Amino acid sequence: MRTFSSILVTGGAGFIGSHFIRYLSRLSDFSGKVVNLDALTYAGNLENLQDSVATLGPERYAFVQGDIADPSVVADVFDRYKPDAVFHFAAESHVDRSILGPGEFVRTNIQGTFTLLEAARRSWGCSLGKTPENRVFHHVSTDEVFGSLGDSGSFSEQTPYDPRSPYSASKAASDHLVRAWSHTYGLPITLSNCSNNYGPYHFPEKLIPLMISRIQSGQSLPVYGDGKQIRDWLYVEDHAEAIWTVATRGVLGRSYNVGGLTEWENIRLVRYLCDRMVHFLGKPAGTFDHLITYVPDRPGHDRRYAIDCSRIGDELGWKPSTPFSEGLDKTIRWYLDNPDWVARVQSGEYRDWVNKNYTTRQET
Ligand code: NAD
Ligand code: TYD
Repeated sequence: MRTFSSILVTGGAGFIGSHFIRYLSRLSDFSGKVVNLDALTYAGNLENLQDSVATLGPERYAFVQGDIADPSVVADVFDRYKPDAVFHFAAESHVDRSILGPGEFVRTNIQGTFTLLEAARRSWGCSLGKTPENRVFHHVSTDEVFGSLGDSGSFSEQTPYDPRSPYSASKAASDHLVRAWSHTYGLPITLSNCSNNYGPYHFPEKLIPLMISRIQSGQSLPVYGDGKQIRDWLYVEDHAEAIWTVATRGVLGRSYNVGGLTEWENIRLVRYLCDRMVHFLGKPAGTFDHLITYVPDRPGHDRRYAIDCSRIGDELGWKPSTPFSEGLDKTIRWYLDNPDWVARVQSGEYRDWVNKNYTTRQET
């Protein structure tokens, strides 16, 4: 098992990155330092980390507000904190936004990954045949790089790349860069390609949190196209565990598919959320069904994703552990208990919260 004393997490103020830092803060076999490099875009919110930062304490946690695509920022972080592991989450992550404005996806997801790879290569003194020990660059990627499936089959690690949206194309490009830095420069890398995550702190532009908050406020529930597209859903805490498993015990240079083994049609999921909200809010059955509204389809909408995650199961013993019904109930409960978080995130008010509660520093 690889062990680390200083971990750089990029995008640690986002949805999955903040759950990963929470996971690290509770781990008994990691007692090192966590450095969170995050630009705090609209999707980054330090409020997501309040409890983990308190658990880690000031000795074990540092935050740097900065852009992963800025070489001077990244070099300074490596010089100052000398990370022996990088967990790279920072990205533009929403498909709809990538359709409206692909430029930022190319910059952050491709240029940003390149900048981090170069900094890690230099800092760790990598060259082919001289891969340093107890170092890893773990790249957090998506199943969307594999394209779209028909009615049967699933994505394995051998499935050819076939990205179709600007988001998935930018993630595919970053996956290729990460593999190239391993083959060409001997950078110790691992990679995971995961299906759709859900859980608390999910920015309410993605399907599940968007539907929960719109049901709560009685707004229409936009279902793209015929609603029969299929996604595989994984509870975010299970993903955090999978990432740690791959980076500490996975074979260097190898990628691992991660999934929830939970394929649902979007329309089934939206109807199910309406039913569970009826239950949680004590309303008569069917109260929210009239909110479901079919809207024009997303351009280039991928039809179906499904994951064959037997490699991570067979080699490393990981499997998803949170049943969908349990994870969804926990998620709904969290959104109902945290209306202020949703309101602040939607209004952008959390940026003031950041300034009041943290001393942040814009690297130059
Ligand atoms: P998110 O949008 O919630 O968070 C992204 C974080 O990255 C934010 O904190 C943001 O401030 C930060 N960031 C963005 N641009 C930056 C830049 N230029 N420099 C520094 N920080 C920057 O995303 P997420 O859903 O938590 O996804 C995290 C990673 O996991 C991404 O790489 C994504 O592709 C991957 N992934 C996500 C899912 C999913 O279902 N959400 C599934 C598989 C893989
Ligand atoms: P999303 O959460 O954006 O994740 P991704 O596109 O990365 O899979 O969307 C999940 C599915 O839900 C996808 O098929 C698009 C669909 N969708 C809707 O039907 N309506 C919506 O308002 C949103 C945001 C998504």
